[in-house]
Amino acid sequence: MTLAGWGAVEAQAARIRALPPGWQARRADLTNFIWRAPHLEADVSRQPIDAEAMGALLELANERGLASRFKALFSAEIVNASEGRPALHWALRGGGEPFARANGLMDQARKAMAFARSARAGGLGFTVRSILHVGIGGSDLGPRLVWDALRDYHDRSIDVRFCANVDPDDFAEATAGLDPATTLVIVVSKSFLTPETAANAALARAWLISHLGEAGASHHLAAVSSAPKLAMAWGAAEERIFPMDEAVGGRYSVWSSVGLSLMIALGEAVWERFLSGGAEMDAHVRDAPLSENIAARLAMMDVFLHTALQIPSRTVLAYVHRLRRLPDFLQQLEMESNGKSAADDALGLVGPTAPVVWGSVGTLGQHSFHQLLHQGMRESAIEFVAALDAGAGDRGRGRALLSNAFAQAEALLAGRSSGIAEARLLASGMDAARASRQAPHMHMPGGRGSSLILLDQTSPEALGALLALYEHRTFAAGVLWGINPFDQWGVEHGKVLASELETAIRTGVEDAGDAASRRLVGLVRRHGFGD
Ligand code: F6P
Repeated sequence: MTLAGWGAVEAQAARIRALPPGWQARRADLTNFIWRAPHLEADVSRQPIDAEAMGALLELANERGLASRFKALFSAEIVNASEGRPALHWALRGGGEPFARANGLMDQARKAMAFARSARAGGLGFTVRSILHVGIGGSDLGPRLVWDALRDYHDRSIDVRFCANVDPDDFAEATAGLDPATTLVIVVSKSFLTPETAANAALARAWLISHLGEAGASHHLAAVSSAPKLAMAWGAAEERIFPMDEAVGGRYSVWSSVGLSLMIALGEAVWERFLSGGAEMDAHVRDAPLSENIAARLAMMDVFLHTALQIPSRTVLAYVHRLRRLPDFLQQLEMESNGKSAADDALGLVGPTAPVVWGSVGTLGQHSFHQLLHQGMRESAIEFVAALDAGAGDRGRGRALLSNAFAQAEALLAGRSSGIAEARLLASGMDAARASRQAPHMHMPGGRGSSLILLDQTSPEALGALLALYEHRTFAAGVLWGINPFDQWGVEHGKVLASELETAIRTGVEDAGDAASRRLVGLVRRHGFGD
């Protein structure tokens, strides 16, 4: 690694580590650590970073050429070097300067929207009351999140069900109560080769045929894919296949025709609002200098927390029920993008790279794993996500959500000494011997930093801005770490092995897999999984 600036960042980390726990609660420069952008603010004042550390990180960002990498991204230059592609997801949001492929990309989006309009208006030959969205990974997580977040913005005339797992119970659950005569099946798969999706696509087609017959079923099929021939072989008519551009990665693709189910169910107006929020964030990230650019600053903070300070995980806690799928979505975005160890250029890698990202709905986590966050021995950088319209119109419930998020952040940072715990126990009337035995168990070390991403409301625009921010933050962190956030070679290997082992289970070929796999292949064959 030949980065001169990394040593300075590590020196800042050593200095910060030596500060007394909870020092952030007393910082005089709190407002400098509240970073604003369209539709949201990031309050990172409780994180273990300060102006000096941010200064060193900015030097590192300059050395990495982060500003010119953002420029390259927004000029449709090749930023995905290992696959020789630009990354064009941002262009689907409609902002930015024109570039060679933009027209083609927008034509694809227009074709999908025209189909969506027709589907809503009864133009498919039947009334669409439900959509079965079949896909996995990036072809599932974004649409699922957006549907959950924005479903209250639609007229409720169309329901969307999602099916991702190869386990047929998922298909059974997703189709429970659906009427095939009013259901549109949309299979979303960039490759159209993903085995889970292929299996569910076949089930869906068979389900339609069993109720509507072969000819009837064909009116109920549509596909979104970069492999139109395979989609046609499945049964989708050519005019009902919506292309996915190779330069839009699966986990960045919700803005594209991958969102077809949402375009239909949410309607054009809500969809456009979602895109416009994303475009507003694009404009901020494209135009703001790094020192004021929220995506760059969050990425610098991430590299500081997870690499310089070696905090191994990030816990995403959604204090908005409608954002309950955000941790799942971010898991793929961050870990599939930046969970890597191959350097992307001659400057080399700084690592460890991406943290383990996990989380849940905040208030549910409080009654489950927050114990470890407060008193466990493993650190995690906490990220609270809340909104100023918390409580969906019920101010009391909203107050409860927000005060819980704020209280958790405060408790994690301040902790509680056993002395204070003992004093409270004594004040409550406990006898002295018992209080002194119990107090050490109530000690909370504190010093645990957190960020709060606060949306102005859970609107389509704010959701668009939030997801675009996370995408740009992920890209920027990848640049700082020195990796390519747009490929995913690691997941490919497991897919190949799975197919070899599936053949071994089916046919009984004995030399496939390692010793443990060979034993398991034999075991499941004895349970009837062979041919
Ligand atoms: O297995 C990982 C992955 O390749 C993701 O990158 C992608 O989002 C997902 O599978 C689904 O792929 P496809 O859209 O080609 O079915």
